[in-house]
Amino acid sequence: MQVIEHIAQMTALMEQGEICRPIGFVPTMGYLHQGHLSLVHRARQECRTVVVSIFVNPTQFGVNEDFDSYPRDLSRDLEMLEPMGVDIVFCPPVREMYPDGYQTFVDVEQLAQILCGARRPGHFRGVTTVVLKLVNIVKADLMYMGEKDFQQCVVLETMLRELNQACRIIRCPIVREADGLAMSSRNVYLSPEDRQKASCLHQAIQLAQRLCRDGKDKADEVIPVLTELILSRGGQIDYIAIVDHVSLQPVDVVDTRSRLLLAVRFGKTRLIDNGAIA
Ligand code: PAJ
Repeated sequence: MQVIEHIAQMTALMEQGEICRPIGFVPTMGYLHQGHLSLVHRARQECRTVVVSIFVNPTQFGVNEDFDSYPRDLSRDLEMLEPMGVDIVFCPPVREMYPDGYQTFVDVEQLAQILCGARRPGHFRGVTTVVLKLVNIVKADLMYMGEKDFQQCVVLETMLRELNQACRIIRCPIVREADGLAMSSRNVYLSPEDRQKASCLHQAIQLAQRLCRDGKDKADEVIPVLTELILSRGGQIDYIAIVDHVSLQPVDVVDTRSRLLLAVRFGKTRLIDNGAIA
């Protein structure tokens, strides 16, 4: 496993022509867990070369968000990646990705303004910008991404398609803890009490699935029931939405194209989750 810090080194390696395609790429912000490793595992099965990036991207954090405190542990991350047969770990410094005076950004207009984009202005602009830069540097053919960040998948697929990039996204399922909580680097922020309460996000998805199975398939019937469950567990709701899985626009009646998306705060920690419910 080669650990590469500098963009120029990465470019030189790619230009030597010794890297076999397809190149499977797993972009991450590090502090890895089994959710990230599931993407690496899938990439290893399907690609000749596997590249993982570890970069806590400042442009996707708002001014009052957790960029400074975001958990980081590069040596632990490298220990986790080594036995998985990763070829290259790319971990550039911030000043190389964004030199002084940096001024070029990518905007996906509508999809990035709704849901998490409405709550975190500028977030997806940072995500699309860094991912396009990384895909270009790494020369990725396939990019492995988790459905945990469902809107992120939709925004990035739109960006790659509309900017005529050859790279395709392979979506991978959400990996959960035993009690159903979706794995996330941010789960370490939760107090023990909030950690217990946080399992209600997954319970809300399961409850919505049951309601739909029982014929209660109107969004304005389902959402209040889920709201009550989450409030009763002490969560502060950012949004609960049932949307079309492609347009991300709200739907009235749940069907197989619908997706339930949730963003809920416990204390200062904001968690997201989602699932198909029909
Ligand atoms: P990060 O939160 O580190 O996530 C990296 C990748 O791991 C994303 O594709 C995310 O969806 C996936 N992932 C996280 N938790 C998961 C889980 N429980 N199950 C399955 N997949 C999971 O997402 C980002 O970083 C950044 O926005 C990034 C794309 C790297 C751009 O900076």
